[in-house]
Amino acid sequence: MTIGIAVIGAGMAGKSHAAAYRVAPTLYRPTLPDLRYVSICDVNAEIGEATARRYGYERSDTDWRAIAADPDIHVVSVVIANSLHLEVVRGLLEAGKHVLCEKPLADTLESAREMARLAREASSIARIGLTYVRQPGIAAIRNWIQDGTLGTVLHLSARYWCDYACNPKGQMSWRYKGPMGSGALADVGSHLTYLSEFLCGDMTAVSGGAFTTAITERPLPLGAVVGHGQVDVSSETEPVENDDYATFTAKFGATTASLEASRVAAGYPNGLNFEVFCVNGAASFHQDTPSQVRLYLHDDQPGTNGYRTVNLGSDHPYVAGGMAIDVSGVGFGQNEGFAFQARAFLEEVAGIPESESLPRNASFDDGVHNMEILAAVAESAADNGKTVTL
Ligand SMILES: NC(=O)c1ccc[n+]([C@@H]2O[C@H](COP(=O)([O-])OP(=O)(O)OC[C@H]3O[C@@H](n4cnc5c(N)ncnc54)[C@H](O)[C@@H]3O)[C@@H](O)[C@H]2O)c1
Repeated sequence: MTIGIAVIGAGMAGKSHAAAYRVAPTLYRPTLPDLRYVSICDVNAEIGEATARRYGYERSDTDWRAIAADPDIHVVSVVIANSLHLEVVRGLLEAGKHVLCEKPLADTLESAREMARLAREASSIARIGLTYVRQPGIAAIRNWIQDGTLGTVLHLSARYWCDYACNPKGQMSWRYKGPMGSGALADVGSHLTYLSEFLCGDMTAVSGGAFTTAITERPLPLGAVVGHGQVDVSSETEPVENDDYATFTAKFGATTASLEASRVAAGYPNGLNFEVFCVNGAASFHQDTPSQVRLYLHDDQPGTNGYRTVNLGSDHPYVAGGMAIDVSGVGFGQNEGFAFQARAFLEEVAGIPESESLPRNASFDDGVHNMEILAAVAESAADNGKTVTL
């Protein structure tokens, strides 16, 4: 068995997927079948070609239909603007491809539900990449909650602060289009809500939803935009339609969380940070230092107790047996998360039993649930922060 791989979209996250499939077979023992790196597809031919060459894919394409039509391709990552996910995923599932789609599942809840319906009816596997649960520090904290080291969560304070939209001269892109809730909340808040449920269990209600659009007009780009990179801009501007900042309170039964998503948090290029308070202590994770977490336990010695820094290594999930050097202090970050995600997807496609694999990636139904939370926050924000039950 040989699994042929393609990636659609060679922008910021697309390159991470292209690289991740390369790294995936090098994680853990070699249990995956042979992999064939077939194509990188991007409407921008130059970017697609450069990415294919950089990561050793055989060719590049400019139309996703060439990927759907190629019988040598079995696994496809969809890493393009959210509003394009439905059309491309539909075509790929109809062609029998296994699809790993980026988050959020779609630009609207309606499109996401249609994608989940297509996935349920498909003969192939459809998964959504919500990468952060594969951060060793986040997975370790979750284990400590579940095995009683930290125990039941009392409350959570989590924020995903980014600063990519701070510059008013930063060009218009697909990220600034769509209704309130499709901005910072969907872009980075989707990670936050998913990992808050990973730590606290099922979210039952949201309240106190509020949005701010700090920069209301942006200049049009004069060249191709990739990720958050700055390009030359025109003097013509267009209105920013969605949220630069979002905040809300989430309920998980008896547990409460305060959650914030921002793309105008100056000084935080990629600041996914949280602190979780539990019956036996507390823990915190900061994306700036992803190979460490801080842990506080009540049963530390009185007089010398306090938060300790734990360097993640061979005693922790994903690192142990997975990384080339799996001892603490070596360090790792977000790129590795994509590689573990790709590995989990390939294991599932290869039919390796779940008991011998990494935890499976989330389903499209999970992706719909994730978007229902975002919609509930938008509903709360539209009505003075009212409580919306999930
Ligand atoms: N999991 C994560 O941590 C993470 C991080 C960043 C982005 N994302 C997600 O990845 C997706 C893409 O985001 P990005 O930041 O990489 O975007 P991007 O704007 O950097 O790149 C998108 C690429 O898609 C190409 N493209 C546009 N239309 C296309 C089409 N029809 N067919 C093929 N290629 C096309 C563009 O030319 C561009 O190169 C989004 O869904 C986003 O939410 C996830």
